[in-house]
Amino acid sequence: MKTLLVTGGAGFIGSNFIKYMLAQHPDYKIINLDALTYAGNLENLTDIEDNPNYIFAKGDIADRPFVQKLFESYDFDTVVNFAAESHVDRSIENPEIFIQTNIMGTQVLLDAAKNHWKTGKDANGYPTYRDGVRFHQVSTDEVYGALGKTGMFTESTPMAPNSPYSASKASADLIVRSYGETFKLPVTISRCSNNYGPYHFPEKLIPLMISNVVELKSLPVYGDGMQIRDWLHVEDHCSGIDTVLHKGVCGEVYNIGGNNEKANIEIVNLIIKSVSEKLREGDYAIDNDGSEISTDLITYVEDRLGHDRRYAIDNTKITTELGWEPSYTFEEGIVETIEWYLNNQEWLGQVKSGGYQKYYENMYSKK
Ligand code: NAD
Ligand code: DAU
Repeated sequence: MKTLLVTGGAGFIGSNFIKYMLAQHPDYKIINLDALTYAGNLENLTDIEDNPNYIFAKGDIADRPFVQKLFESYDFDTVVNFAAESHVDRSIENPEIFIQTNIMGTQVLLDAAKNHWKTGKDANGYPTYRDGVRFHQVSTDEVYGALGKTGMFTESTPMAPNSPYSASKASADLIVRSYGETFKLPVTISRCSNNYGPYHFPEKLIPLMISNVVELKSLPVYGDGMQIRDWLHVEDHCSGIDTVLHKGVCGEVYNIGGNNEKANIEIVNLIIKSVSEKLREGDYAIDNDGSEISTDLITYVEDRLGHDRRYAIDNTKITTELGWEPSYTFEEGIVETIEWYLNNQEWLGQVKSGGYQKYYENMYSKK
């Protein structure tokens, strides 16, 4: 039996991770600490909210007394830190909250873990900790910066973040590393490429394009649309983190990626084609028969400032040293994801209208 603190568990990847872990490890207890920012949606978790091994705690990872109390109440042995401001465009508009949550928040969690898990000191003055504890930081390939036409990010690629978002994530990685080196806290870091899948907030490329195609709205492609991202199904990211938690070596960094490089415009064209075909052929509760969907919806707009041209993850370390493999091909994963959005228009509607933000009030006022 393990007791996990999962932060940011109401977001896209965190909610998928909690469900994945409860399915894989039914005896684990999971406490989801989430501030329910605009990106936190408890409707992502309705299918497990009655699971006796799942508890939700509303709070800010940067709230030191609150986090400390949570450690005392639940005696976690594992922390998986997903909580973050995650959208690059928002970080260009307002960097400050990225520094506050992604950097300061991570440091608060590290301190709480260090203080709670400490058992004493070794002969050299380093803190010692309870057996089996672990602090895992969920990081991103964006800390490595941008690639040219060739090459891939390995774990030893120097960090060169370009956006306030990626700089805040790189800073957090360095602080996590420093707690491992200076205080010998058992830490691991994973750096994953772009995720896609169910419950992805429709400000990000794939869900935004699916949502706009269905509504026959224009599809804003930044710059020339030839920027390359390396896509991984969210469930494969979850299994990668699970693998690092169980087999990863403390102090190490692991890249997670599935070798799926695609130019943005390819993704947009694929979504146009697939949504159009599905709406023509399928039976969805959607007022659009697909006949008016075409590439005419594409609108090239002003490029993102500091836009990274290409990302590509070299996953050799996690595949050879830990035996992890992705289970989805991009071709099957993207079709499944498009179908999920077409079948979950109510979820999407709630997110777009902001209705999901009332869920907490309604749900938790009953408890
Ligand atoms: P998301 O924006 O969907 O979710 C973030 C969650 O964190 C939300 O539920 C939000 O309410 C919560 N949160 C924000 N600030 C908080 C705070 N101060 N205290 C507590 N909770 C807070 O993000 P995501 O796409 O699920 O990403 C999760 C993590 O994975 C992030 O750390 C991100 O950097 C990393 N990551 C994301 C991707 C990707 O493709 N989405 C890829 C690699 C790594
Ligand atoms: O690489 C991992 C990162 O992937 C994560 O760390 C981030 O949290 C996550 O948001 C994601 O960052 P990106 O900036 O790559 O994702 P986004 O979906 O915002 O954009 C993907 C690409 O599509 C990027 O090149 C910008 C482009 N784009 C995006 C939007 C929203 C468009 O052309 N038009 C759009 O409207």
